[in-house]
Amino acid sequence: MSMNETAAALRAQLAALPRPALAELFAADPDRAATLTGTVALADGAMRFDWSKTHLDAAHVALFEQLAEAMGFATRRAALLAGERVNTTENRAAEHTAQRGLGSAAAVDEARALHARMAGLVGAIHGGALGEVKHLIHIGIGGSALGPALAIDALARDGALCDVHVVSNIDGCALEAAFAACDPATTLVAVASKTFTTIETMTNALSALDWLRESGVADPYGRVVALTAAPDKAVEWGVDETRVLPFPESVGGRYSLWSSIGFPVAMALGWEAFAEFLDGAASIDAHFAEADGAANLCLRAAFADQLYAMRGCQTRACFAYDERLRLLPSYLQQLEMESNGKRVDVAGAALGHPSAPITWGGVGTDAQHAVFQLLHQGTVELPVDFIAAIEPGDALDPAHHRILLMNCFAQGAALMAGRAAADGARDYPGNRPSATILLDAVTPASLGALIAFHEHRTFANAVLLGINPFDQFGVELGKEMAKAIEQGGIAFDPSTEALLAASGLSQKT
Ligand code: F6P
Repeated sequence: MSMNETAAALRAQLAALPRPALAELFAADPDRAATLTGTVALADGAMRFDWSKTHLDAAHVALFEQLAEAMGFATRRAALLAGERVNTTENRAAEHTAQRGLGSAAAVDEARALHARMAGLVGAIHGGALGEVKHLIHIGIGGSALGPALAIDALARDGALCDVHVVSNIDGCALEAAFAACDPATTLVAVASKTFTTIETMTNALSALDWLRESGVADPYGRVVALTAAPDKAVEWGVDETRVLPFPESVGGRYSLWSSIGFPVAMALGWEAFAEFLDGAASIDAHFAEADGAANLCLRAAFADQLYAMRGCQTRACFAYDERLRLLPSYLQQLEMESNGKRVDVAGAALGHPSAPITWGGVGTDAQHAVFQLLHQGTVELPVDFIAAIEPGDALDPAHHRILLMNCFAQGAALMAGRAAADGARDYPGNRPSATILLDAVTPASLGALIAFHEHRTFANAVLLGINPFDQFGVELGKEMAKAIEQGGIAFDPSTEALLAASGLSQKT
């Protein structure tokens, strides 16, 4: 049998397995909570991954382990970590783990050298080399913005070394809000773009230069730091080479927070904290590289993700029961949907099964009062991840954190247990799956680990699906059409033509 035939046969066996309820699974195995909970030690604590409230059972795990083997998980993992060209459609490696110290010797050396250059610039700026710097406007989009925004929002609440504003949207309202919050005389601008061609970023960067110039800053380009895998383009655009922080082409945009794209994080937190962030990710890298089968927590999570995909679930939700992690769902949306939202396999053939679900989510407890009605009583099956930290981030009455955690754990319990009632409107069917990730505390190390866990979970899903998670051709067509509108001469469909005409954008008006 070919690899695809073996995998199809295993998928068929998985689909045919009995579907015991969660309560039955717990009743049948007194050790279930312990068996399906794993821990990874970090330098400053631990992370607990409880997958016991998912429908994974021993039969699933055995078949998923065979599926992972059939899909070449160990070989694809080794190829990823060795810096082989695993991104086959673009003929590139995917070397984000090298930024954390795991990869080919050449990639790890290069990452160390580039980090040293970045640390040097961060230290020099903190030391006053560019005069007084109070604010940083970080301009980037997608993978060049979501990571810095998440890390700074999570970690820089108790007094940042620099006031960072992340601006991504081409809508000028976003940039104007940053201008309003910054003093141009003490502001630096970071232009973050892997390609240094993205229209939103380059347009926003030019407007930021105009703002500095119009505010009386004599040398606006002298206030710019470029974070890019295209350093020549940044220099050509006008940034002095000493303020260009390159990163390797083999680091993908949505995997780039660990590289110089993390510059604003290091500016806000200091280099030491940024290094802890990298080390936290490295703890998960080591686990991912070494653990086999379902003992590999990233692969185990992917087993559950695939199980729910097979059961027809089209979305997965992530609720952070921690205000500091409120941007995690939007970060994960790009990571998971841009990586695995594909319809062909690595060979370009149509997938015979669903790929990534829609990732969505929010912050607890807010989401409980807005969307949880559907989770408890809606008609769709929908796996949920809860993420919480034992240590509070606030200094208020401990009641705040106690109520937060109690609610987090109560939701998982309620989704699973349900409560029968004769009155249908008051009946909770239960048997609704969830997983819980519990951090000791939200720290640079635990955030790094949390993000790295999701990167590897995404990769593990891609292997089980048989797809390449490292390209994103799906984003190109819309960009090309937008350019075509500007250039004119192309006839669009009647609806689009009417919208263009109504907005005064049509070449024909
Ligand atoms: O359009 C999608 C995308 O290419 C993302 O993958 C990427 O993170 C984002 O745009 C920004 O790209 P760049 O860093 O090259 O500006």
